[in-house]
Amino acid sequence: MQQLKEVLFMSMLLVRGGRPLAGEIEVYGAKNAVLPILAASILTTERVILHHCPKLLDVENMVAILRTLGAHVQVEGSQITIDPQYAHSHEMPEELSKVMRSSIFMLGALISRFKQAWVTHPGGCEIGLRPIDLHLKGLRELNVFVREEHGAIHCQGDDVRGASITLDYPSVGATENIMMAAVTAKGTTVIHNAAREPEVADLAGFINTMGGKIRGAGTDCIRIEGVENLHGTEYTIMPDRIVAGTYMAAAAITGGDVTIRNIIPAHQHAVAAKLTEAGCIIDWKQDTVRVRAPKRLREMNKIDTLPYPGFPTDMQAQMMAVASVASGTCIITENVFENRFKHAGELARMGANITIKDRIAVVRGVEQLHGARVEAKDLRGGAALVLAGLAAKDETMVEGLCYIERGYQDLAAELAVLGACIEKGD
Ligand code: UD1
Repeated sequence: MQQLKEVLFMSMLLVRGGRPLAGEIEVYGAKNAVLPILAASILTTERVILHHCPKLLDVENMVAILRTLGAHVQVEGSQITIDPQYAHSHEMPEELSKVMRSSIFMLGALISRFKQAWVTHPGGCEIGLRPIDLHLKGLRELNVFVREEHGAIHCQGDDVRGASITLDYPSVGATENIMMAAVTAKGTTVIHNAAREPEVADLAGFINTMGGKIRGAGTDCIRIEGVENLHGTEYTIMPDRIVAGTYMAAAAITGGDVTIRNIIPAHQHAVAAKLTEAGCIIDWKQDTVRVRAPKRLREMNKIDTLPYPGFPTDMQAQMMAVASVASGTCIITENVFENRFKHAGELARMGANITIKDRIAVVRGVEQLHGARVEAKDLRGGAALVLAGLAAKDETMVEGLCYIERGYQDLAAELAVLGACIEKGD
């Protein structure tokens, strides 16, 4: 079995702050699009070629999962070729499921392909409990028999049938899993209160190029007409809107002038609106955005995370770093995950003034952060600490680089292109 890359080693990033970032940078394919799309590649037995895939730990781990299931996978630069005809197993080995929470996407894909699936319950993670009740409820409504015992989930789907499903909450993962299970079901499935995230639309776009019949993805009502078979395809992954947002925040926090290429402007509006409030000048072109920041950012008043098109929870930490050095007070409310403020304590070690109560953070901007030894405790929180380091006086040491590498492709090298003084350390 392929060896999984576990998050065990603790290398770090060394950041010397105080330089305004300037220049151009290009965004690669989205982690949250490529992961479910890799899972969906086993919906067919024919070859699938994916372009513009990011080189990330999470992607490597998903490739390892596909190989364990028997698929042949080749990674050449940003292209991943999957030959899923040899996939034979409907069982996800326990250790893979544990390391890779996104492996839950395999549930819907395995049911479609093998009529059954066996996965370990993914459990909680760094940012909260992350239950999967909505995934399982939706699958049951599609006539999948779901049995949960001793932390494992066994699904039997001999006669998967289309259904009208109303999600209690527009969960991204549940919407994607139900879509994958329904795509080869008998009859039509309608998902009401579906997640509207662009990555859901990208997954649907991918499945449709395989011969799937999914309409309405990207809206809150998705209609899936079941088809008998799906065929091979070639597909380009959408740009990563969270990576783009992180670069926008990096421009803002350093008082910089950065142009970000290969973005979809509509995906960046929530972040852009906040940065505009903070006094940044944002210019859009067809697939680029330029962010010019003032020397001192203005007050951002409040940030409420919400499902798309609201402010993304995956940008909350980075914007907390930005708010830490803006003037005035910013109230940040985290509505999506219950435990997503771990970066606040680390930012405080750098001189940020943040008070937390339940899901609300009150950030009182300070003139200047100072360098410190801090620890990334999750992916986006880690990115926030790097941003804070870019703005801080002296040197910041961000430990836990392995978390950051789950979602950012060589962040240090990318930021260095923009003039940041940043390097990897052991
Ligand atoms: C996806 C993204 C993640 C992003 C999140 C919200 C991927 C790989 N990850 O995660 O980066 O932060 O969307 O935009 O695409 N919930 C339940 N029951 C369920 C499912 C979810 O209660 O069955 C809750 C979760 O605990 C959480 C909220 O719903 O509080 C949102 O979760 P969800 O939209 O499912 O996020 P993910 O798909 O896990």
